Amino acid sequence: MIQNKIYSIIGHKGYGKTKLTELLILLNKKPCIIADPRYQYEPKEYRRHFKNVGHFRKYILNSGNRKEFYRCKLQLVVNGLDEESFEELAALVYKMKKISFLVDEIDMFAPPTMTRKASFYQIIHYGRHNEIDIFTTSRRSANISRNLTSQTDVVFFSRVREPNDKKYIAQYIGKEYVQTAENLQKFHFLMIDEDFKPHILGVSSRVAHVL
Ligand SMILES: Nc1ncnc2c1ncn2[C@@H]1O[C@H](COP(=O)(O)OP(=O)(O)O)[C@@H](O)[C@H]1O
Ligand SMILES: [Mg+2]
Repeated sequence: MIQNKIYSIIGHKGYGKTKLTELLILLNKKPCIIADPRYQYEPKEYRRHFKNVGHFRKYILNSGNRKEFYRCKLQLVVNGLDEESFEELAALVYKMKKISFLVDEIDMFAPPTMTRKASFYQIIHYGRHNEIDIFTTSRRSANISRNLTSQTDVVFFSRVREPNDKKYIAQYIGKEYVQTAENLQKFHFLMIDEDFKPHILGVSSRVAHVL
């Protein structure tokens, strides 16, 4: 797995974006902070859930807890997020090192109007120095900041229908791939790696494989 990268997953609701993030962060083998605004990440033995950022802050500022987080490669799931508390979470994450930061349904938190004052902007542009990998999901490419899309290393599309998404794919790797993306089966993704090479990825509930 490539380290210190930004991964974006774009596609319709119900096409397996959240499930794919769960596989990707396990493959990435780093402790992970998960911003989970829609309560999508279920309890697992390697997860801790926080009902808001205040609870998360209290946990992570305790050095014993932090050690446990790194030693056990835990996934810390933060719920109860709005724009303001996401900023608070991103500011805490920006100070950390050697972690993955997963933001599910990022549309709300990194809209095209995001400014450089946002801590998430700082993580996108400078997080690599702290070995922070970023994983995001969103429903449409047009809903997310160009700062994120332009810095993304690996993109995964599920079946696309939106004209804007088709345009995005055409500009990104060429219009010959638009049809591939239109015809994807459910739980399959068009993955475009950092060399702009396209692959079709099939995802079962346990493994992802290149087809
Ligand atoms: N590869 C898969 N194989 C079988 N079921 C899947 C797969 N990926 C997701 N699912 C199931 O499909 C539903 C939608 O998946 P989810 O990851 O939540 O989609 P999204 O985040 O795109 O809305 C969930 O019930 C999930 O368990
Ligand atoms: Mg989802």
